[in-house]
Order: sequence, then C-alpha cells, then structure tokens
Amino acid sequence: MKLWGGRFEKELDKTAEEFGASIPFDKRLYREDIAGSIAHAKMLAQQGIIGQEDATKIIVGLEAIRAKIERGEFEFRLDREDIHLNIEAQLREEIGEAAGRLHTGRSRNDQVALDLRLWTRAAIVSTVERILKLQRTLVRLAVQWNGVVMPGYTHMQRAQPILFSHHLLAYFEMFQRDAGRFSDCYGRVDVSPLGSGALAGVPYPLDREFVAQELGISAISRNSMDAVSDRDFVVEYLAAAALCAVHLSRFAEEIILWSTAEFGFIELDDAYSTGSSIMPQKKNPDMAELVRGKSGRMIGHLMAILTMLKGLPLAYNKDMQEDKEILFDAVDTLTNSLKVFEGMVGTMRIRGGTMYRAAEGSFATATDLADYLVKKGKPFREAHEVVGKMVRHCLDKGKNFSDLSLQELQTFAPEFEEDARQITVETSLAARKVYGGTAPGQVNMALETATSLLESTQIWLEGK
Ligand code: ARG
Repeated sequence: MKLWGGRFEKELDKTAEEFGASIPFDKRLYREDIAGSIAHAKMLAQQGIIGQEDATKIIVGLEAIRAKIERGEFEFRLDREDIHLNIEAQLREEIGEAAGRLHTGRSRNDQVALDLRLWTRAAIVSTVERILKLQRTLVRLAVQWNGVVMPGYTHMQRAQPILFSHHLLAYFEMFQRDAGRFSDCYGRVDVSPLGSGALAGVPYPLDREFVAQELGISAISRNSMDAVSDRDFVVEYLAAAALCAVHLSRFAEEIILWSTAEFGFIELDDAYSTGSSIMPQKKNPDMAELVRGKSGRMIGHLMAILTMLKGLPLAYNKDMQEDKEILFDAVDTLTNSLKVFEGMVGTMRIRGGTMYRAAEGSFATATDLADYLVKKGKPFREAHEVVGKMVRHCLDKGKNFSDLSLQELQTFAPEFEEDARQITVETSLAARKVYGGTAPGQVNMALETATSLLESTQIWLEGK
C-alpha cells in the first residue's frame, strides 16, 4: 500500500512506477532528510502539536534508520518512490503508529526543498575547499618558480615576455572569482522552506525559526509558493560550476599544449599521464584532456536545469525531480576535476630553460623597442612601423634583434643609441611595473595579495 494510496483503487503501472521513482538517485539525500525530520518532530512536540512521547519515538527511530543506512543494511525500495517515503515507511515498520504523526504540517514539497538546500549548502563548502586547494598549489608553484620567464601569447603567437608566475596567478584570479560566486550563492541557499507545506502554508502553529536554528540555517523563506517551487539555488550552483569548469578547461588546454614536443614547457608526472596501446613512445595528458572535456557536460547541466524550469507554472511540479541527477553529477564532476587537476599541476616538471629560449628568440621585445623610440620623441604609430621593418629585416636575414649592431639599428631610426641594444627580456619584464603588470616587483606583491586572499577564503570556510 502506498503512503498516499487512500483515494486509489488500482495499483500503479510498473513502468510508470519505475519512471516516476527518484530513489535510485535521491537516496543521497538520506542524511539531510533525517536531519530535517528530526528538527521537525522536535518542533512539533515543543509546540504541543504532537505528544513528546511520540516525538521521542520518532527521533530514536529516525536515528536507527540513519545508522542502518550507514551500515548498508537499509533496503531502498523502488515501490516506495523516493527517499522521503522510503524513510517514512521504514519508520512505521520500526516504531509503529507514532510514525504517522511525523508528517503533520509538512509536505514532501517543502521537505524535498529543504533536503536539497541542506545538501547544496554542504556541496558549496566542499567545492570551495577544492578550489582553495588548487589555488594554494598555484601559489606554491608561483613562489617556487618565481623568476622563470616565458613568452606570453595573443592569437597563440608569442607576444611579450612574462613571468611564468604571472601566468599562474591569472588562473588564481579566475578561481578566486569562482570561489566568490559559490560563497555568494551560499546565502541564498541557506534558507529554510519548512512550514510552506504543499504550497500554501500549513494550519498548525509551527515554529519555523526553531526548525531553522536546529538545522543551523540562517533564514526562513518569506513566501510558501516560492519556497516550494524555487530551484534558483541549483541554477546558481550549476552556473558557478559551469564557469569554474570552463576555467579549468582553458588551463587544461594550456597544459596539453605546453606538454607537447613542440612547446616542451612542462612535463607531466607519470602519475598523471597514460601511454598508448600501440605507440610505445607516447605519453598522453589524458587527465588534462578529460578535465577539458568534462566542461561540456557541466555546461549541459546548466542548460538542462534552466530549460527544465523555463515555463513551469507555480508551484511544485514533478518536473522538478529532474534537478537532482544534474546537481549531483555536477558536484561530483567538478570536485573530481578540481582534485585531479590540482594533483596534476602540483607534480608537473617545469622546463624554465625552454620557456626562456622561447621568450627570447621570438622578437618578444619588439614592443619595448617601439616604446624606446617613443621615449626619444617618436609617435607610437611611427615607432611601431620602424620596429616592424626591423622584424622583417631580421626574419629575412635569419637574425635576432640582439644580432643587430648600433649602425644597423640607426639605419632604421637615427634615435637609436647604444642603450637600445640593452633591451632584453629582463628589461622588458622590469619595465611593466604598472599595478597588475608582470614586472618581478609587481608579481611579488601579487603573491602576497594572493596569500592573504587564501587566508580570507580559509576563514570563510571555517565559519561554515
Ligand atoms: N521525489 C520528489 C522530487 O524529487 C519529491 C517531492 C514529491 N512531491 C510530490 N508532490 N510528488 O521532487
């Protein structure tokens, strides 16, 4: 007999039962469901809505069920549809009639909203922890390899010399914003919908604040219809997750490029690489490729939840059961991606010499030569033209800027003096001492800022 079976005369069709059941995936909510029920039962007794003796039986019974699930001895039943009905039906088996009083002043609609909010809240914390770990590794690498020079790229063409640490800190910034997006949506997740009932509120004198406090939730929802139909918090998690996955995919792409023979900037550790079953010489950056690939599925999850919610009338609709698999998979995929990525970058070998030669042998100081002429009074556009001609000349002759004598330089512009020949990768870097630039002094400052940002995220996490 179904817990809602009173008005029915026929059994549910087997295919329909299987199609409608969420227990195969929403069993992951058992801890939140039990915590919510315990808080609800306590409150019902405190308000005199149910007897204290019944409440005690319910709480002891729910704790026994939790222990049973954790021992792997609980039988999740498809004919009991979802986690809420599975636990309630089991409670009846454990404690008898008193179990029937738990659902007083509650609907599965506010119950599932509460469970998912509690689950998402914890997921945000573990996601931010993972992001923080990766950021720590980036800072560690940036400190360890401080001073290593590489070419910076635009259009995938060597553009200007930069510090490798500056490049790493660019990703630090992206992940800093990601952590900010997750911690920002935490406040909107941390709201208790319990008391909203099916949609209109409940006719019992519930103490909604008490339930929220019991669960460590900081606010209660203001509108019962919104509370049972709102899944914005899932959208927000998925949006932040999709963007974080996109950041990871950009970084993954660079790791893949850098580890090619053509670049040779890094070598991935054997622990994060795989071989080919046919080509014995191969060492493939599978983990980076997978992280890059999984961003597609994360973007898909965001589209799926938005499309599911689009056009849904108030209040609860069964469509919303579709929120869970997406969210669960997104959290698993993102946290696993962050974890493997952190291990992979944390163990890669850096080929500083190769990076330096690539920065040096590619006219990367061309902008600096133009800036030199600007300081001697030439308009920037003319200076640009002059240095462009020098590049053309060097390419034709197979030379580098450093191979040009002062006399040769002066054939391009009479403003050139001996100090123009002192323009190097190092002077180019040092010159970019604007706030946020790649000059070593700026990068050192940025490292200090990064360290204090890590500290603030750590403090935020400790408060959760
Ligand atoms: N399993 C359902 C879900 O995930 C729980 C809520 C069901 N509510 C209902 N009125 N059928 O959305």
